[in-house]
Amino acid sequence: MTEHLTVVNHPLVQHKLSIMRDKSTSTAGFRRLLREISLLLAYEVTRDLDVTTTTIETPLGPMEAPTLEGKKLALISILRAGNGLLDGILELIPAARVGFIGLYRDPETLQPVQYYSKVPNLLDERMTIVVDPMLATGNSSVAAIDLLKQAGAKNLCFLCLLAAPEGVKRMREAHPDVRIVTASLDERLDEHGYIVPGLGDAGDRMFGTK
Ligand code: URA
Repeated sequence: MTEHLTVVNHPLVQHKLSIMRDKSTSTAGFRRLLREISLLLAYEVTRDLDVTTTTIETPLGPMEAPTLEGKKLALISILRAGNGLLDGILELIPAARVGFIGLYRDPETLQPVQYYSKVPNLLDERMTIVVDPMLATGNSSVAAIDLLKQAGAKNLCFLCLLAAPEGVKRMREAHPDVRIVTASLDERLDEHGYIVPGLGDAGDRMFGTK
């Protein structure tokens, strides 16, 4: 059975993540590293994709060559910070179908409020990868996956940069069938729902807002 949580302990991923965490890293540097890291995380999350074979002709003759099987993947970005991960993954999987779910966190209750949703069709036939850099309380992630399951998705993965133990627990309880792939399992959440040690607000760091 597939593990519920995969931490990608690759030296390149860990090195890039350390620079991203550093508060002196510029917006441009943060963005570039996020794009680079997302390629490496996408490699890991797609490791178990189904493969078939197709007959092709190489310059030396015919061969049965491995190719991806089934419908194109669906990538679902949780706005706005998910878009930073999405851009990198699309470089690796340019034919993927893309959806967006807009959720913001009510600062008082920390509960997600949905303001936008547009997702690809035939989700029941696609592997669906949900991307959001921070798995913090897990409330928005669970809400997004609830919505995707209602839309038909059955084969779901959640891809993030950092996860807090609280978010992983919440996801495991609500959606034990959804594999989480992350670059790091951090220590905890603070009283405002931020991941510690974390990297701050991922959206602000990648878009240069405050
Ligand atoms: N969202 C963020 O951007 N950062 C956190 O630490 C938690 C949630």
